[in-house]
Amino acid sequence: MSLAARIPEPSPDAQFAADIVRGLSRRQKSLPSRYFYDARGSELFEEITRLPEYYPTRSEIEVLDAHATRLMRNVGPDHAIVELGSGSSRKTELLLDAAPRLSAYVPIDVSETALTEARQRLSARHPRLRIWPVVADFTDLGALPAGLEMTSKIGFFPGSTIGNFDAGDARALLSSVRRLLQPRGRLIIGVDLVKDVDTLVAAYDDRAGVTAAFNLNILERINRTFGHTFDVTTFRHVAIYDKALSRIEMHLESRREQTVRLLDRWFRFERGETIHTESSHKYTVAGFGDLAREAGWEVGETFTDQKGFFSVHDLVAPSSMARPAA
Ligand code: AVJ
Repeated sequence: MSLAARIPEPSPDAQFAADIVRGLSRRQKSLPSRYFYDARGSELFEEITRLPEYYPTRSEIEVLDAHATRLMRNVGPDHAIVELGSGSSRKTELLLDAAPRLSAYVPIDVSETALTEARQRLSARHPRLRIWPVVADFTDLGALPAGLEMTSKIGFFPGSTIGNFDAGDARALLSSVRRLLQPRGRLIIGVDLVKDVDTLVAAYDDRAGVTAAFNLNILERINRTFGHTFDVTTFRHVAIYDKALSRIEMHLESRREQTVRLLDRWFRFERGETIHTESSHKYTVAGFGDLAREAGWEVGETFTDQKGFFSVHDLVAPSSMARPAA
């Protein structure tokens, strides 16, 4: 265990504890993938995006770079970009550079540090842009900052984060985002595509072991937060592609039979038993279009990279005139 892993986090999190107990009490043990992203996990994820095997970031940047001008045509002082889970806001720069008259940028993220860093960098580059960071979990959003009422909102949801949700949850999230951005809302969303299994699995099981460290960090985070209960060396990273469900699953597999005492409970692991830590759903362009329409969006244009690995969809809320009375 590294020295850094011994530094305790500020306060044990009751929600985290409840989610751990619920997840580890299931027949198929699981942990919510959003807990990957503490400071260490976010660092490891940044490292993943630079791996040779992890194509999604490069493919999506290729698409945004090629089509930012088209996506941002007609974007003027009456528009704001609202980004869900903005992190470092690196991809957003491609849109902002193509929309010099944009009125405001609203990055939403759980990490205040990430928001502060992004704001500093972006305001130097775009001095006249109003930047209104919101510290929040985008799945649990109340309202947007006051002052945006008269602005047309363009949602930006890159990274194929939508892939972490099961179809039902993805549909619900896309509808609630549509309501958040209405009227006249748009959503520019990145969606990873179905492709050959070897490419998919390699992207989630890289040779350098960074994804393994990212996956195992969730146990280290539990240790840092609630005391050193997991022997992390007794778990190994597993990435499998489930063809029927079109998704990569990441698991942590117990190398031996063991019982772990955590949060006043005992959790028993068989040898080979796994904790399911993440699903990353892969879509076809048509399949994602159907999902978006089920969530009440109209599909505008869709763009892909040269290899056809990754797609960016421009979704448009149906105009109020065309919408049947609700
Ligand atoms: C940021 C959720 C899109 O699913 O590809 C990367 C996270 N997990 N490697 C993804 C992730 C393992 C990533 N998302």
